[in-house]
Amino acid sequence: MPETVTITDNRTGESVDVPIENGGIPMSAIQKLMPGTWVLDPGFGGTASTESAITDLDGINGILRYRGYPIEQLAEHSTFLEVCYLLLFGELPNTEQMDAWVHDITYHTFVHENMRKRFMEGFHHDAHPMGMLMSAIAALSTFYPEAKDIDDPANRYKQINRLISKGPTIAAMAYRASLGMPFNYPDNDLTYAENFLSMMWKVAEPQYKPDPVLARALDILLILHADHEQNCSTTTMRVVGSSHADPYSAAAAATGALYGPRHGGANEAVIHMLEEIGSYDNIEPFVESVKAGEGRLMGFGHRVYKAYDPRARIVKEQADRVFEVTGKSPLLDIALKLEEIALSDDYFKSRNLYPNVDFYTGLIYQSMGFPLDMFTVLFTIGRMPGWLAHWQESLEQGQRISRPRQIYTGVDVRDYVPLDAR
Ligand code: CMC
Repeated sequence: MPETVTITDNRTGESVDVPIENGGIPMSAIQKLMPGTWVLDPGFGGTASTESAITDLDGINGILRYRGYPIEQLAEHSTFLEVCYLLLFGELPNTEQMDAWVHDITYHTFVHENMRKRFMEGFHHDAHPMGMLMSAIAALSTFYPEAKDIDDPANRYKQINRLISKGPTIAAMAYRASLGMPFNYPDNDLTYAENFLSMMWKVAEPQYKPDPVLARALDILLILHADHEQNCSTTTMRVVGSSHADPYSAAAAATGALYGPRHGGANEAVIHMLEEIGSYDNIEPFVESVKAGEGRLMGFGHRVYKAYDPRARIVKEQADRVFEVTGKSPLLDIALKLEEIALSDDYFKSRNLYPNVDFYTGLIYQSMGFPLDMFTVLFTIGRMPGWLAHWQESLEQGQRISRPRQIYTGVDVRDYVPLDAR
């Protein structure tokens, strides 16, 4: 059977045979048949904006693989920095490559003192850390103007390295500033996750020693968030990158996209929702209000997953381990009951609405001591390598500037009427 589809323009009777390649059909072939006619696809539900070899996501079967490796195996055996390398360079590193990579990240965690003293201290005392992080990432472009040279792979490597290594430093800086606490400098003897926890929580002890279960749980959560193909923020990264802006500007824009409650902000919104529900008795009425269209069940549903999100399953296992150290979250029972009720309700079943990665991550972060407004910051640190891998891939692909079309539905031409005549 030919791997083609035939499209006929009934206005002219002309047809074109379009090849189906890797499950997609090229728009350029349709354009030849019907110039000036556009595919209307708000929210890009049926549009593949690019080819990509980074992440394989099969939402019908609940499968997620980075460069072919199942997320379950990476979460069990790998580390966040190893996964960063895999996403960025396509293969798992050998020992020598891994040592060099970890060294490069570890030795670039410091930021310019002006960033801390003048920039971060300039924010209002109750500034949201996501706003601070987004601004700080954009500001890095002024500290590294050479980042504009996006065509040089060695230069790109430097900026990629800085964005991954400095993310936790800036995030911890934002948190400490919000408390009025002095900033903790990075500790090169610690792993990526341990160092972040040290910058967050260290007070007066000579060296902060994070609980290994909590440090590993954080590392696994970063792995789970590291990439998710063409989601809203990654698409933003690619779109801004397609104008050949420097990677700091593109990553700041992607951070803004992630901030929203329908995307990375959902983990924070889940806790607000669970607190609002407050007790078992309120679960059923809350679910009814969602079904009546009065809000959404945060942490449920996904554009691509029409089965259980494989990341949510791993997060749930991690939650059990973390709660053994921190004590159980008082909101856990409400979350479990809410999940049980929703999964047996026709409204959610018929729409294939299952818990997504954000449903349980907030409970873990909260029991580890992170304030709510840091949750999306943690997501940003985790997603950074994915954004950068896509940015790099798009440049290597020679991606055209992103410039979609629109279907104009406004008024037709009319003559200007002077103010006194309106
Ligand atoms: N609660 C209740 N109903 C929902 C929900 C939900 N969480 N999500 C979707 N629906 C309903 C929606 O009302 C619609 O119903 P109908 O067909 O009767 O109009 C149907 O399901 C399809 O929804 P949609 O809005 O067309 O789906 P989408 O693919 O555009 O949106 C989503 C995906 C993730 C934005 C959405 O499911 C949502 O808002 N979920 C809550 C927020 C959330 O948890 N976001 C985190 C996503 S995972 C992490 C990440 O990648 O950022």
